Amino acid sequence: MSGIIISGKELAQEKRIEMKQQVDTLKQKGITPGLAVILVGEDPASQTYVRAKQRACEQTGIHSEIDEVSPSITEAELLEKINVLNDAKHIHGILVQLPLPEHISEKKVIETIHPDKDVDGFHPINIGRMMTGQEGFLPCTPFGIVEMIKSKGIEIQGKHAVIVGRSNIVGKPVGQLLLNENATVTYCHSRTKNMQEYTKSADILVVAVGKPHFIDADDVKDGAIVIDVGIHRNEEGKLIGDVLFDNVKEVASYISPVPGGVGPMTITMLLHNTVVSANRRLK
Ligand code: GUN
Repeated sequence: MSGIIISGKELAQEKRIEMKQQVDTLKQKGITPGLAVILVGEDPASQTYVRAKQRACEQTGIHSEIDEVSPSITEAELLEKINVLNDAKHIHGILVQLPLPEHISEKKVIETIHPDKDVDGFHPINIGRMMTGQEGFLPCTPFGIVEMIKSKGIEIQGKHAVIVGRSNIVGKPVGQLLLNENATVTYCHSRTKNMQEYTKSADILVVAVGKPHFIDADDVKDGAIVIDVGIHRNEEGKLIGDVLFDNVKEVASYISPVPGGVGPMTITMLLHNTVVSANRRLK
């Protein structure tokens, strides 16, 4: 078997075309969706992600503002910037790029963003809403993963979903979203014993462990759906994932590639959340 590729890149393009139409409709009603991004410091990976978010906003007609601030900004100064954006009428989404310098509390930053502008879906209120099935903002990477699976007409209900990794940003919430879709969910992490027993029993395997080529074909059940959240650069400078794609695609029924998989969908769901936020303002 050779698995069908779930191209996040193609799905993201389709969704961005639809989104542009929604943005145009909102503009006709006098609202331009606005996203504010704060980037603290000069981490090259963060700079790349922020540029990609900015380009995606331009592509869909969303107004974006990038505030690049010095890594020596104090926590109080950063929180004040967020409060100004919380009150800004033309801004519907606020994102503070992570990670932050050590002297700034990530928790305080996330909790200062107003939950109704928290388009990252990281605020504890939005996490609580997600857990209880209430309307809020869903975290972008997990949201994008569920959209990718659904885009292929795959039924999630009743499937055994195994999540490798338990980060607050990806692992934990993607398990919750798949549970909301009536999957049976198992989490694996660094202390899991006999991990292969679990990964091999997965109908849906989501790998967000942050280790290059961590999952090989003998870790995967025949016909499984495999989603790779990892992104690393190998010695030749090539982007690779947490999954050994060339081997695993031979046993999987569906597989997401790296690059062109989850990454473009994360940004697309950020735009989606921003447009939803602007629409809520209209109501
Ligand atoms: N750093 C890496 N991924 C993300 C993300 O999705 N949102 C924010 N705010 N920072 C990140």
